[in-house]
Amino acid sequence: MTVTTRPRTRIFSGIKPTGHLTLGNYLGAMRRWVEEDQLKADALFCVVDLHALTVEHDPARVRRLSRQAATLLLAAGLDPERCTVFLQSHVDEHTRLSYLLECTATDGEMRRMIQYKEKSARERADSGSVRLSLLTYPVLMAADILAYGTDEVPVGDDQAQHVELTRDLALRFNQRYGRTFAVPKAVHPVVAARVMDLQDPRSKMGKSHASTSGIVYLLDEPEIVRKKIMRAVTDSGDDVVLDREARPGVANLLDVLAACTGARPEDLAGAYRSYGALKKDTAEAVLELLRPVRERHGELCEDPGYVDGVLRAGAERARGLARPTVDAAYAAVGLLSPA
Ligand code: TYM
Repeated sequence: MTVTTRPRTRIFSGIKPTGHLTLGNYLGAMRRWVEEDQLKADALFCVVDLHALTVEHDPARVRRLSRQAATLLLAAGLDPERCTVFLQSHVDEHTRLSYLLECTATDGEMRRMIQYKEKSARERADSGSVRLSLLTYPVLMAADILAYGTDEVPVGDDQAQHVELTRDLALRFNQRYGRTFAVPKAVHPVVAARVMDLQDPRSKMGKSHASTSGIVYLLDEPEIVRKKIMRAVTDSGDDVVLDREARPGVANLLDVLAACTGARPEDLAGAYRSYGALKKDTAEAVLELLRPVRERHGELCEDPGYVDGVLRAGAERARGLARPTVDAAYAAVGLLSPA
């Protein structure tokens, strides 16, 4: 009898070093990578540094934030024995494939992306112009994913449209040139798939917002985390109910507390009589969740050679995985391979 083993699910996800990583990044994506994805699948996690160049940036800051993001991924518990951690710019296949996907996507598709509309408006206001790469960014993201034959892309809610575009491009490419890419799907956490800004609970907690008082950063000092959560904007009324439309501030706190404790937000709502008590418990639960990450980050910073080694080995493995798929895509569209 022959036993056929199904190849392991391939997972790919990424994080952009445009700012310090936040509680939203952790609850929406990183925690699942650590607790589920690296254990069940062949998983790759990438600090997508090229994406950080799509907006005004300071080179020294990008360098610093890229290293910090990689260190935090390891501090959060990604284990290089179980998964592959690397920097996007160390693997040329991403940009090689991106061009072919630019030849697959349309400009209308790019202009429909919600994040492009929001970010281009902000960039135009701040610096007077918008980089072309901000428009083509989702194509590079699609290349990140498709280069690895990815089945699942674990991300927060805000990336759903980009993964949908990736699927469309994979299907279109396969239909035109023959089956080359796996068609991936996005997976989102059940709770806290979109953590909101504590000061503006109708906007996502984003790492590059100008005002930082509503954003919990993974490396914030405990006192700062407490202060930010205790000062979170709540809603008029003083009873704790879960109503995402009418009471977004309270719903956000309930979601964060639920994500930290494993309880259901609707059950938590019934357990609190005041906003103050809810905030206090949320702050303590967040601190408890982040404490080991902060501690391990401190330790890893003492050993930058270790982080460099992980990234070097990760890039080497990633290159080996991406190369055949990207070469196949080049051949499929009609490009001759070098003799
Ligand atoms: P980025 O760097 O903005 O965010 C990294 C991950 O964190 C999630 N996330 C959130 N989840 C819940 N609530 C929030 N407030 C919150 N803020 C961020 C994001 O959904 C994401 O999963 N374009 C991507 C990076 C990327 C990528 C990829 C992701 C580039 N190539 C390929 C997956 C696969 C981005 O800007 O993520």
